[in-house]
Amino acid sequence: MQTLRVELGDRSYPIFIGQNLLDAGLMKTYIKGKQVLIVTNETVAPLYLQRLVTSLGDSYKLDTVVLPDGEAFKTLEYLNQIFDGLLENRHNRTTTLIALGGGVVGDMTGFAAACYQRGVEFIQVPTTLLSQVDSSVGGKTGVNHARGKNMIGAFHQPQCVVIDTEVLNSLPDQELSAGMAEVIKYGLIYDAEFLRFLESNIQSLMQRNPMLLAEAIYRSCAIKAEVVAQDEKESGIRALLNLGHTFGHAIEADQGYGNWLHGEAVGAGTMMAADLSCRQGWISKADIQRIRDLLLAAGLPIAPPEGMSAERFKELMSVDKKVLDGQLRLVLLQRLGMAVVTDQFDAAKLEQTLLAGNQLGECC
Ligand code: NAD
Ligand code: GLY
Repeated sequence: MQTLRVELGDRSYPIFIGQNLLDAGLMKTYIKGKQVLIVTNETVAPLYLQRLVTSLGDSYKLDTVVLPDGEAFKTLEYLNQIFDGLLENRHNRTTTLIALGGGVVGDMTGFAAACYQRGVEFIQVPTTLLSQVDSSVGGKTGVNHARGKNMIGAFHQPQCVVIDTEVLNSLPDQELSAGMAEVIKYGLIYDAEFLRFLESNIQSLMQRNPMLLAEAIYRSCAIKAEVVAQDEKESGIRALLNLGHTFGHAIEADQGYGNWLHGEAVGAGTMMAADLSCRQGWISKADIQRIRDLLLAAGLPIAPPEGMSAERFKELMSVDKKVLDGQLRLVLLQRLGMAVVTDQFDAAKLEQTLLAGNQLGECC
């Protein structure tokens, strides 16, 4: 097992990464009271719920909420199912919630924990690649609104994150690809050497080589922990973790939540951010080719949905959380391994990127 730590003063917490950690009972050290509510969904429950329950033993009053599966249910309406489970079973302020599932379950459980009785503790047990490398670490929690992705939420850090790499064996290929979009993001924004590791090993990673996947998860979490420790509430460097997300969130909202996976939208969004970075003259056409090759090898889309207009992109991007005083800010690449959050881009070039469709990266 490998351990990392998110250093946030009295809100610091460990990230445990290893095989079969679901059975290890690690999280018991981080449960302070006698009540536990496990939140999971109807896909993950039959696969892993019993193992988690068994590993917790009989020291707790244990209740479970099983949510419907899907991004479409990441709403205030379905969040109520968690509050119903807590209230019906008389959970008090010393309860601990455990999120067992992907990013949807993790974000909703964390937000419920942030709100219930003005804040209770929770633990992340992420079961998708995306949630293991990104959403379970850093304390961003929330739900979607019809007008914007993750618009209702709170920062609320977990007590610990338990990453069992074995559970990735049951993950559909498309979900593995979606998670790889966030892994690639870390290389692009922060670590050129990690990017080269991914380029060299992408085939084996997609074939789920356990050693390489564990390495990619560890390095991704290490970067995320480092960034979050510097800027928990995203007033600066943390915004870099949104490479491709402004475009991607617009795609998700346009297509209807769940129709494009979050990671797929981030993949296409990353290609759009790369295209604009290239038009700005910051990265080269050869750099773009490397990004395209890596995204394709990871099974990700490299163009936005056909027919999504520049006007529609602009309308949806105008509610992005990085908009400051009405000014759109984007995460762009200064070079491979180094990104910047900026409003210093040419509006005409952005227009060209939004219109480029499947020609992204062709004309810079
Ligand atoms: P998800 O939670 O919808 O999970 C994807 C699918 O995989 C679901 O059908 C799920 O039931 C299934 N699944 C989960 N674990 C499985 C397993 N081990 N075996 C088989 N199937 C399994 O999606 P996701 O990609 O994990 O997360 C996406 C969400 O995360 C989005 O809502 C996004 O906004 C959010 N997110 C949050 C942050 C953050 O910092 N909080 C960061 C990135 C993404
Ligand atoms: N996924 C972006 C962040 O956690 O800040």
